[in-house]
Amino acid sequence: MSKITVVGAGNVGATCANVLAHEDIVNEVVLIDIQGNMAKGKALDMWQQAPVDGYSTRVAGGDDYALTAGSDIVIITAGIPRKPGMSRDDLISTNAKIVVSVTQNILKYTKNPIIIVVSNPLDVMTYAVWKASGLSDKRVIGMAGVLDTARYRAFLAEELDVSPKDIQAMLMGGHGDTMVPLPRYTTVSGIPVTEMIRKDRLDAIIERTKVGGGELVNLMGTSAWYAPGAAAAQMAISILKDEKRIYPCCVRMNGQYKLKDIFVGAPVKLGKKGVQEIIKLRLKKDELELLHKSAAARVSGQIKHQSCPDIPA
Ligand code: LAC
Repeated sequence: MSKITVVGAGNVGATCANVLAHEDIVNEVVLIDIQGNMAKGKALDMWQQAPVDGYSTRVAGGDDYALTAGSDIVIITAGIPRKPGMSRDDLISTNAKIVVSVTQNILKYTKNPIIIVVSNPLDVMTYAVWKASGLSDKRVIGMAGVLDTARYRAFLAEELDVSPKDIQAMLMGGHGDTMVPLPRYTTVSGIPVTEMIRKDRLDAIIERTKVGGGELVNLMGTSAWYAPGAAAAQMAISILKDEKRIYPCCVRMNGQYKLKDIFVGAPVKLGKKGVQEIIKLRLKKDELELLHKSAAARVSGQIKHQSCPDIPA
């Protein structure tokens, strides 16, 4: 019996649950929301989609955390999204309160889950969940890099007129405008991207990627959900199937890249233990500097938690 819980039945959570149901890899997907009927209704709708699309995964929903008992993986998407003009950091106190209470409720019914955090500001919320959970830092992982590289890959695919499937990329740092896409670790079917694109075009794509979330907030008046939901699902799949895929994920650094006790994006091997390994790239001086700059921006967010009484010290 395998089960994945998705907390938050908003756009991101519902999309994530729907992608997971279609994968047909777990017995049950549970969708939880304080708006219990919304979660129940969306879950029922997805279960009624099962005969059409052909999956066996049961989908259940509501506001009762008893439904989540025995989850292998919990994906936390709960919280408010940003509106135009807001930075992800503006959400900190509202969302910290929410993710901490979600974590406590989850742990009442499941002792040792792997938790994937999606709520923003991502790096700080991942830290807050880890603090509140008392879980090993191998079991609390933030989703940002899969989404940010997906945006980068999509822009590159469009520019080069190739399939996005053939673009591989790595990116480090926080989920904010200081994120660090790494052109040296970007290939098109194994061909270094720098051999296929002019530097000024690549630089423009990198800049667009950094504010890719904001571009969508400006278009829609709220933040994105299709790619974010699918990205979180992809991480859960690697863990559940013990695939050991390497994705950029927000994880707690323990001295890697000269960073300690901070959650920030790095290449991670994801398997049944959660973080199986943080891959150490041989970054050049300028790349490491950008990473440290990005980490510093996230540290200040994580220090801001001290003025945020909802995150346990
Ligand atoms: C984004 C939000 C989910 O980047 O952070 O779209």
